[in-house]
Amino acid sequence: MRRIVFALLTLLLLTPCRGASRNPVPKGVQTTVYQNGQVIRIYDRSVTEPVRIFVISDTHLFRSDEREDPYRQYSKRMSKAYNTTRHFLSGKPTNPEESLLQTLSLAREKKADAIAVLGDLVSYPSEAGVEWAKAVLDSCGIPWFYTTGNHDWHYEGTEGSEIDLREEWTRKRLLPLYKSYNHECYSVTVKGIKLIFVDNATYQILPSQLKAFSAEIKGKEPKLLFGHIPYYAPGYGITTVAHPDWGYDTDRGYRAERRERWPVDGFNKTTMDFWRAILKATRRNHLVASFSGHHHVQQTAIVDSWTQFTVAANCQGGYFEVVIEPMPEKKPQLFRATVIFHKKGRFLLIFLETEFLHIDSLLLRKTLQHGGFFELLAGAHFANGTGLFEFALEFLQGPFDVLTVFNRYYNHLKITSFSIKWLQR
Ligand SMILES: [Fe+2]
Repeated sequence: MRRIVFALLTLLLLTPCRGASRNPVPKGVQTTVYQNGQVIRIYDRSVTEPVRIFVISDTHLFRSDEREDPYRQYSKRMSKAYNTTRHFLSGKPTNPEESLLQTLSLAREKKADAIAVLGDLVSYPSEAGVEWAKAVLDSCGIPWFYTTGNHDWHYEGTEGSEIDLREEWTRKRLLPLYKSYNHECYSVTVKGIKLIFVDNATYQILPSQLKAFSAEIKGKEPKLLFGHIPYYAPGYGITTVAHPDWGYDTDRGYRAERRERWPVDGFNKTTMDFWRAILKATRRNHLVASFSGHHHVQQTAIVDSWTQFTVAANCQGGYFEVVIEPMPEKKPQLFRATVIFHKKGRFLLIFLETEFLHIDSLLLRKTLQHGGFFELLAGAHFANGTGLFEFALEFLQGPFDVLTVFNRYYNHLKITSFSIKWLQR
């Protein structure tokens, strides 16, 4: 019987301790953001359950059929722009459709709660391209939300202002992607996180969009802002919304893209007000981060309290996996102790196993001395976040006194297991 008990207790000693492994976070920290490659991890105090959102942009699908024939003079350049690509990490050949399917497959595998599609999903408003994209997005079984890029609605060489062309071709071709949402600005809430989508694909913001955004940004819930074109951050290139140098003289692409040249006066006041509203919202309205595409390369910009992530082009395999989780809170420290008593009551071993490296071994030593134990014979060693403290002690008191001592000095700790075993002579 004694051998069975001994074996069981040994097994218990070797069983990993179940307990909190997170470090406490100082008071006053509301949100922290980490990035590791394509994974962005956000911890926020007001989040109650993990939320996983995939972000993609710039898939640049080029599929077309006979319905495209009347428009081929306007889609000629872009229909060949990204037909074969190289994966942005591996350098291996890929293509827009393969990249999108792989990303959706990964999102399914990771059980994503939502997918944000940030425009240039197609290289021109091809009906076949839009239909194929909608079909594969629908079939992946994850709620997805879309906003346009500057190519989704643009047939190069067609007459009209950027704003008028966006309205016309959004209405004619892109409404199935928006479902019932207003393309100018809309929001959805996913597990308590508000996702705000603003169509900034003309580089400019309309007064109606600023008004809608101002209404959406109210409320205390965490919010993420999505749009195709990145917003200006000092150091970012000219092709950003609200860049002070953006305008007629700096427009290098209007001839190739056969579109209206950027305005002489640069950005309108509403666009600049919108940019300021973003910065303000990061301080006052719990706007956690912004996400964009358009540049095709992965970038991160931090301006004071505002963080902006730009995702690599999905036609080259780019995506972000954004995980928003509850802030690690200070929790009762859990540990497991195994006490081994000598049969004749002269010797005691305590194995104290904890997932916390910062357990106060000095305090433990004092505790044990105060409790009548003396002489700490063995040291401690640490490995992979687990501290194993091994103490050999003169035994003076019975096992219940040991528990009493532990409870008196470590009443903020929760003992997950406490076992006592007797040594064989
Ligand atoms: Fe773009």
